[in-house]
Amino acid sequence: MNTEETFLLDGWRFQKGPIDGCPQSSTFDDATWESVRIPHDWAITEPFDKEVDMQVTAIIENGETVASEKTGRTGSLPWIGEGWYRRTITIPQGCRHAELVFDGAMARSTVYFDGKKINYRISGYVTFSVDITPYLGDTSTASSHTIAVHLSTEPQSSRWYPGAGLYRPVRLITSGKAWLDRTATFVRTTSLHSNSATVAISTQLHGEDSALYSATLYNEKGQSVAASEPTPNNDFTIAVKNPELWSPESPALYTVCIEAKKSDGTLLDAYELKTGIRIVEITENGFFLNGKPRKFKGACLHHDLGPVGAAFNKDAFRRQLRILRECGCDSIRTSHNMPAPWQMDICDEEGFMVMAESFDVWYNAKCANDYAKYFADNWLQDLDGLILFNRNHPSIVFWSIGNESHDLDTPEGLEVYPKMEARCKELDPTRPVTQGIHVPDVAIDSGILQMTDIAGINYKIPRLERVHSVSNMGIALGTENASTVSSRGIYKFPVNASPFNAYPDGQCSSYDLEWGGWGNPPDDDFAACDDYPWMIGQFVWTGFDYFGEPSPYDGYWPSRSSYFGLVDLAGIPKDRYFLYRSQWRKDTPTLHVLPHWTWPGREGQITPVFCYTSYPSAELFINGRSYGRKTFDPSSRFDRYRLRWENAIYEPGELRVIAYDNDGNKAAEKLIQTAGEPARIVAQADTTTLQPPTEDDTPSLSFITLSIVDANGNLCPNANIELSFKTTGSIKYKAACNGDATSTEQLSLPHMKTFNGKLVAVVEAITTGTGIFSASANGLPPVEINFNS
Ligand code: GAL
Repeated sequence: MNTEETFLLDGWRFQKGPIDGCPQSSTFDDATWESVRIPHDWAITEPFDKEVDMQVTAIIENGETVASEKTGRTGSLPWIGEGWYRRTITIPQGCRHAELVFDGAMARSTVYFDGKKINYRISGYVTFSVDITPYLGDTSTASSHTIAVHLSTEPQSSRWYPGAGLYRPVRLITSGKAWLDRTATFVRTTSLHSNSATVAISTQLHGEDSALYSATLYNEKGQSVAASEPTPNNDFTIAVKNPELWSPESPALYTVCIEAKKSDGTLLDAYELKTGIRIVEITENGFFLNGKPRKFKGACLHHDLGPVGAAFNKDAFRRQLRILRECGCDSIRTSHNMPAPWQMDICDEEGFMVMAESFDVWYNAKCANDYAKYFADNWLQDLDGLILFNRNHPSIVFWSIGNESHDLDTPEGLEVYPKMEARCKELDPTRPVTQGIHVPDVAIDSGILQMTDIAGINYKIPRLERVHSVSNMGIALGTENASTVSSRGIYKFPVNASPFNAYPDGQCSSYDLEWGGWGNPPDDDFAACDDYPWMIGQFVWTGFDYFGEPSPYDGYWPSRSSYFGLVDLAGIPKDRYFLYRSQWRKDTPTLHVLPHWTWPGREGQITPVFCYTSYPSAELFINGRSYGRKTFDPSSRFDRYRLRWENAIYEPGELRVIAYDNDGNKAAEKLIQTAGEPARIVAQADTTTLQPPTEDDTPSLSFITLSIVDANGNLCPNANIELSFKTTGSIKYKAACNGDATSTEQLSLPHMKTFNGKLVAVVEAITTGTGIFSASANGLPPVEINFNS
């Protein structure tokens, strides 16, 4: 029997605990429990509540020294506590080896098999496998077994919304007597020449003393392109002629099929996986992918998926990447935790380079009950989990072994760091190691920065020169940048550039001139990447808004999600997104203008106009009157990457920006009109063709952007109008999100107010057929979208 992998997504029963009786026992009656499909996040569908994980603390990362009440720090959704999941599984006849693989279970998970406790794991993020072979009993016939999983999370154990439950897949791997070990299998490119590459493969066979190993490489069309000769050595290579290389611009993937056979040719086991041919290098001259230098245009991402919560969904994650790709982003950092293998599959496919991160803390805690309590006993097995389950992904370019550790100069930190780095190298000599360092001087003085392959610096631009002077190869990477904040569609006057302003409405200004005191405006990061040849790029904090950490409103209720994103929590780009696009995309022009031009009551007042553009100059006209032509000024902090008309005066009507090319010819134009009264709802679905549900995949989703427009189709940028949603047929309503960090509207209820004229509703395919989504509001004609699945 060949090894088989089955996703166990359906057929789970779930109940929040504690539970009377013995829910781990196979005879326990769970008929009254909720039927769920995993990935499942038990908290995301619930109401927001100020009391959830309210912390009285000083956030050291924010430079606070005095404790104060922090309300939305972890998202204000009820993720804390116990939960139970149960289901039965079938072990096939003849099975001789079986494992359950949990791609992440939030958190402190205990796994029971037929009532027996067989595993306990602290980390909610790590992928881990549980060997169930000893508990299978007689496998001469197929047998049925009960799995029960107990999860338990503590208050004050996170700095963001961690999600709750079995929020990632669970897989069953079954094999016969001889089986190829998946985590012991490592496929990587070891050399690359102009017309050839060498792919090295190591694997391990259990259950037989010897075998002949071979591998065949198939391209995306399924054609065999290279194969190795059978060898008794389980560490061998394939030579590939004219390989198609993996890169963000062209993420070519191959399927490698590894076989172990007896000398008479009988197949013992086979393992098929995806791989990409690419080489990662760092030298004094920077970072090279396939021999070509490049600077990271990266984004840090937390793992929640906005309205979908932490429950991993392929469509939701792919959408995040595609939105980021559109602004030129080519890489993500899985801040500050271990990704799920499915996430990495999608990064492989979409062409995103990944800095895969392990820990937010080592020995010294950031929250009273965080992973620091468990780090000493767990770091090794958790780091192993990250690397062994993910090292075959071409998208991963670096391992990150920490974020802003408070142990950069402690004796324990200095002892453990080299061990962690050595372990990364032992399991994977092909990738450099980095970490996000927030106190470069401390890390330089302790020597830890110099030990790190790539000096990863969070913020601290003024310290970069010193980092460069001492770091390995003299290079530095912005592992976390900017921490500029904004609320989509909100503009505050007067416009002041300053670290963290706070306003009575709990919103941040979209003039993109407000940032965390530890951070900086985006302009400084662009300048550092442009001016320092040894700077290998940046990872902006953050690509998307996420639940929790609502700085600068950590103590303001009802703020419950972040303001840092280039894109809001609903997935709608903010103005800042276009600033990055203007710098990051060289293949297509950007011309974006802010603010909106509907300001009843501001007539005659200064209302600055900013333009984010890749064109060299532009001219502003308000109702036909020119405010002059602007060009970029490299000597000015805020005029090097933005065109600004700071003295524009608001008058209702027409704001027009004309962009000119290098020869001074008109190249493009952007027109914004003062909106009239709301007249219509416009619905735009990212897809109307959905996949019917399958056993081994996450639900197929469509994200529908709903906008309130006037009779002429102009967005009504001040419209906060309640919309109600209905679905019929093959789809069901899943959630909505308007991107307002201060909204306490429950995401799972089929109604929500637009925030500054927009929101996003999410629908899910539940069967094959056709379905209709409709949205309505008082006084506006309803709108409908038809779906097929
Ligand atoms: C950093 C930290 C991130 C986040 C960010 C907010 O210091 O690494 O996790 O807290 O600040 O600006």
